[in-house]
Amino acid sequence: MAKNDTPPRKDNFEAPNKLNRNVETTGHEWDGIEELNNPLPRWWVWVFLGTIVFAIGYMAYYPALPLVHYTVSGWTSRGQLMAEMQNADAEKHVFEDKIVRMDVQAIADDAEVRTYATAAGRMLFSVNCSQCHGSGAAGAKGYPNLLDDEWIHGGTLADIAYTITHGIRNGTDEKARNPGPMAAFGKDELLTKEQIDDVVNYLSVLAHGFKGNESTERGKTVFAENCALCHGDQGQGNRELGAPPLNNAIWLYGGSNKDRFETIWNGRAGVMPAWGQKLSESDIKKLAVYVHGLGGGEAVATAPAVSATEVVPAAPAAARE
Ligand code: HEC
Ligand code: HEC
Repeated sequence: MAKNDTPPRKDNFEAPNKLNRNVETTGHEWDGIEELNNPLPRWWVWVFLGTIVFAIGYMAYYPALPLVHYTVSGWTSRGQLMAEMQNADAEKHVFEDKIVRMDVQAIADDAEVRTYATAAGRMLFSVNCSQCHGSGAAGAKGYPNLLDDEWIHGGTLADIAYTITHGIRNGTDEKARNPGPMAAFGKDELLTKEQIDDVVNYLSVLAHGFKGNESTERGKTVFAENCALCHGDQGQGNRELGAPPLNNAIWLYGGSNKDRFETIWNGRAGVMPAWGQKLSESDIKKLAVYVHGLGGGEAVATAPAVSATEVVPAAPAAARE
């Protein structure tokens, strides 16, 4: 805006100028607005100086200069962290020492130690076990779900600790659980394709209570002659032989007719590494407590082979017909 375009000033706009008439200007001027050269207010200058003094004091008291570790107060955030870590370490040591000395059952019985062991076990599980059993331990085809109460090899703390320590059919640990494999009934020509179809159908009767027909009747005979030896005459399974129950809807290798046909045609022999060779005894105790606490853990008192969940509910449809 050119100077002569400036609108006429109203009186009250001139008032400040009148008040400061004897104050110099800095010589800066824009569109008729001039910058007065007033001294800063006293209180403002004092506050300003005060902040400088405060900052110097603060810098000396707390660590504020890079690479200077000396402070008047002696406090540093690094030091605080170290102290906290030492405390946590000491606390951890208390639990670690207990876990070394206690057996797995005693750990599970002591609420505090159990809480610690479970948390540590969960971490160990995600590092060492989740690639096969899933991060939530729900398993996958061929890798058992560890959340449910169906156990192929036993679900007490001691059973689980043993399985983890020595593994299953791994050939690297001579104390590994080493039940015979499930034979390849088709590939090795122990049964014909028709016989396998029949027994696959019979499994639906056994596991899901399906109504029987001629095929399942033949399958029942095939089962009694070829399978009951390991899986039990009611399909209740046998832990000594590592043969899973076949009388419920839990399937390690899939429950569709196709999956079951494949299992019986090709046979199965799941392998689990022996962790006793890689992990410390304490870590295995923590893992056992963690896995046992996932929901399906069995009490020691449970009868070994047949737990309540494994008993065939009522007579299955086929047996009643
Ligand atoms: C390389 C894959 C693999 C890894 C890793 C693995 N497992 Fe397993 N695990 C298996 C297989 C396969 C089975 C089932 C074996 C069978 O068919 O009997 C099994 C079985 C088990 C069982 C027995 C389940 C039952 O029903 O009796 C437990 C308990 C178990 N694993 C715990 C663990 C723990 C704890 C870890 C980690 C330290 C782990 N596993 C790591 C493959 C694995
Ligand atoms: C020598 C003992 C033995 C005999 C006999 C046997 N099985 Fe098995 N069976 C096993 C074992 C052990 C497993 C588990 C293999 C594993 O964990 O990898 C198994 C697994 C299975 C599975 C998979 C279960 C699942 O949860 O996915 C089915 C199905 C099965 N057997 C059916 C049969 C049928 C049908 C017969 C008879 C034709 C039979 N088995 C005979 C030992 C046997």
